[in-house]
Amino acid sequence: MDHFDYRDGALHAEDVPLADLAEAVGTPVYVYSTATLTRHYRVLRQALDARAPLNGALIAFAVKANSNLSVLATLAKLGCGADTVSEGEIRRALKAGVPADRIIFSGVGKTDRELAFALSAGVRQINVESPAELDRLIAVAASKSASPEIAIRVNPRIGAGGHAKITTGGEGDKFGVPADEAMALYARASASPHVTPVGLACHIGSQITDLSPLEAAFRLLAEITRTLRGQGLSVTRLDLGGGLGVPYSGGAETASPTDYAAMTARVLEGLDVEAAFEPGRLLAANAGVLVSRVIQITERADGRRFLVLDAAMNDLVRPAMYDAFHEVKPVVARAGEPVAYDIVGPVCETGDTFARGRALPPLEAGDLVVFTGAGAYGAVMSSEYNTRPLVPEVLVDGADWAVVRARPSYDEMLAGEAMAGWL
Ligand code: LLP
Repeated sequence: MDHFDYRDGALHAEDVPLADLAEAVGTPVYVYSTATLTRHYRVLRQALDARAPLNGALIAFAVKANSNLSVLATLAKLGCGADTVSEGEIRRALKAGVPADRIIFSGVGKTDRELAFALSAGVRQINVESPAELDRLIAVAASKSASPEIAIRVNPRIGAGGHAKITTGGEGDKFGVPADEAMALYARASASPHVTPVGLACHIGSQITDLSPLEAAFRLLAEITRTLRGQGLSVTRLDLGGGLGVPYSGGAETASPTDYAAMTARVLEGLDVEAAFEPGRLLAANAGVLVSRVIQITERADGRRFLVLDAAMNDLVRPAMYDAFHEVKPVVARAGEPVAYDIVGPVCETGDTFARGRALPPLEAGDLVVFTGAGAYGAVMSSEYNTRPLVPEVLVDGADWAVVRARPSYDEMLAGEAMAGWL
């Protein structure tokens, strides 16, 4: 459920008419709902707390999904932690008020500098993804006389997710280490005074709508936990990653947080571990929309109609990159027989197509539309391609709203560039 609803034919974000926001801030603009973020967090929190083995489990929001400081601060105030994959994300999480002991540092290629930064920040846990990384972390920690708590990320050879490009747990994927190697690595780490292995981690993919691959991966982690304990090693935490899918359209079927919690609790029953989860999309996707204005409608002699928007693939890349589906809705409800539109942006490539043959009520130049489900992997993946300014972001809370990232001016966009001295 979200808080973007029509009232008297006008689409609102909570109590704020989106047309007013578009007028005040300009388009395109991302708009996030505090009530929806809060609701999504609470639904997951309650689902986990209702199951004894998961009661109090850490929810560490995957910052990569939406790293806006106000979004992170909204979640931090609810008690949410952060799953981070770079020094920049750790800095953002800290700045947004996430306590260091709720920050997990994941990622396939953390630099020595980033590892050192994570150690000095005192993050809760570093997820180690390879033997080479363990060696580098031990060296960095030794130089600081530290012994950070680590988890070994297992690649369970179970890939899942909404698209091949977002599947991470498969055998050929770059993430984590296979089970047998993970056990050897855990034993090796346990012998070092400069790391403290506390657990195992996995994340098998994103936009997973069926629980069975997740269950298989979690069972494997539970099995490895028992084996390691049998060798006298201590395993107290399991980081179960993110990946639970969301409905991108009204009728879509996805496993619910309640089913997810029930399945996970079943797998962890009696294991006596502290669980952590790293949801990104689940909390943020349907808490955001991208508002855009129709520049013009281009009609072809063959009857094809292009709805040319002022938002483009550089603002919301998911359709171009993953063939992702985002629902498009008019901001002012329009009457009339639906018309099929090819919905495109102004960027100079055919990939800049959001949807083909999408049925919408008849629209006119100047009308506003929204892309729903744009709160995760939307603004964070935007770029200045075609020298288009990054889209601003607005956070709504009831009848209040604030620009939480401003649209840069053209002068600001160019400020970081210098003319080479010989020009
Ligand atoms: N934990 C780790 C280690 C991850 O790599 C990810 C996402 C998550 C948690 C959060 O996954 P989520 O709960 O959001 O599914 N840009 C793509 C999605 C990439 C996901 C990458 N990893 C998209 O727009 O679909």
